[in-house]
Amino acid sequence: MSPNRNILVALLVSGATLLLAGCEHPPVAHEQIGYRGTGMERIVNPRTVAANAALHEAPEAAPAVPADGPKATLLYKNLQVLGDLNVAEFNRTMAAMTQWVAPEQGCAHCHNPANFAEDSKYTKVVARRMIQMTRQINGNWQDHVKETGVTCYTCHRGHNIPEKSWFAEREVATEGRLLGNNFGQNRAGMASVANASLPYDPYTPYLLKANEIRVAGTTALPTGNKTSIKDAEATHGLMIHMSDALGVGCTWCHNTRAMAEWSQSTPQRVQAWFGIRMVREINNEYIVPLTAVTPPDHLGPTGDIAKANCATCHQGANKPLNGAAMAKHYPALAGAAKPADTLAERKAGKN
Ligand code: HEC
Ligand code: HEC
Ligand code: HEC
Ligand code: HEC
Repeated sequence: MSPNRNILVALLVSGATLLLAGCEHPPVAHEQIGYRGTGMERIVNPRTVAANAALHEAPEAAPAVPADGPKATLLYKNLQVLGDLNVAEFNRTMAAMTQWVAPEQGCAHCHNPANFAEDSKYTKVVARRMIQMTRQINGNWQDHVKETGVTCYTCHRGHNIPEKSWFAEREVATEGRLLGNNFGQNRAGMASVANASLPYDPYTPYLLKANEIRVAGTTALPTGNKTSIKDAEATHGLMIHMSDALGVGCTWCHNTRAMAEWSQSTPQRVQAWFGIRMVREINNEYIVPLTAVTPPDHLGPTGDIAKANCATCHQGANKPLNGAAMAKHYPALAGAAKPADTLAERKAGKN
């Protein structure tokens, strides 16, 4: 071999090593999840699963307290949400919330220790709304969270602000580009779409706004379909986020021979459909209105508040905390059911 060829081979080998460095090494485990021959399989890397095991473990519930005893409203002065609890359950809830959201700061994260009743800290105002939000998720979004439900821990995992939350990206066009606006496309290395060259903000259009996700034509002639390749790429970006957030592939929800076809999809796709609507409500009804009380240094580069997406709860597991039903141990977080007609409307597709 000539020296030149040696150099070439060395370059190729090191190039290939660089390219493959991001890949996970075999063996991987796979499980059939659809009919035979449809290629619907779940592929997982047992080493990745083992490495993340602690993240998906739910903390043990605090010992239960008697259900009777004086109501918290008899003792406390400023209860707008938790007045229906008895004193023992109230205190148990405060202790649990502290562990879930502010284990380092303790009660003082939300309270002025000299006067627990006052609302002087914005964190207390936010926490009150978060309790209402958690009740709404557990009580009215069982189409998504089933009996498993959620607690503050599902999202916060001991952090003041959930690690998996998102801010709007600053418009790339304003960052001194030479060649105009890339319309949010092809910025390699964006974690939001698992480094794919896809529109890098799948959240604003679909998990904040209610843009149309479906892109496939429903008529024989293309004239019936008003969606573009650009729309399809944006949908693909959201689908990558959803797959990544749940640690699954497309076939967890779709039969890839007919992505749009509900009759060939798995029950998980229906659950995901409700999940998309639930996240929109979490962001629009609960989180975004809290921007007004949140200090500027907790807001993102464009002045928006940290918002939820699929990863906020799931964090890479197909069921958050591997399906541990924590919520049932905390009556303070159970919600009231919505009247049946509203649910029927929701199922009929009225967002
Ligand atoms: C993450 C925020 C947060 C943390 C941490 C927290 N609390 Fe609270 N606390 C609240 C909220 C919100 C309320 C009001 C609930 C309502 O309006 O029904 C409240 C109300 C109270 C009240 C009632 C005061 C009154 O007279 O109205 C007491 C007492 C209290 N908390 C004690 C504690 C103790 C003790 C701890 C620490 C173990 C603690 N809290 C930790 C958010 C928090
Ligand atoms: C669906 C996920 C989710 C759940 C469930 C949830 N939170 Fe949050 N929480 C968030 C997100 C996202 C933020 C960031 C938005 C913000 O800054 O207010 C946040 C922010 C907060 C903050 C403000 C933190 C700061 O320093 O700005 C407090 C306090 C808080 N949550 C308390 C709670 C409590 C208490 C519960 C349970 C009753 C709870 N959260 C349940 C997602 C969640
Ligand atoms: C967790 C479940 C889930 C996963 C995983 C998932 N999807 Fe989806 N997909 C959905 C849901 C739900 C919709 C419909 C959303 C709506 O209409 O609100 C959808 C819609 C679509 C559509 C539009 C179909 C139409 O009617 O035009 C395409 C295309 C698609 N997904 C492709 C993918 C691809 C490619 C992947 C893998 C990268 C993937 N999906 C992963 C749940 C999923
Ligand atoms: C507020 C927390 C929360 C958020 C945010 C959330 N989920 Fe979930 N999700 C859950 C819980 C809890 C379960 C478990 C319910 C059960 O026991 O089946 C679940 C279950 C699912 C399942 C069924 C998984 C399986 O293997 O059976 C799918 C699919 C799913 N979620 C998709 C999504 C998608 C897609 C999003 C974002 C659009 C999302 N979820 C956002 C809490 C959440």
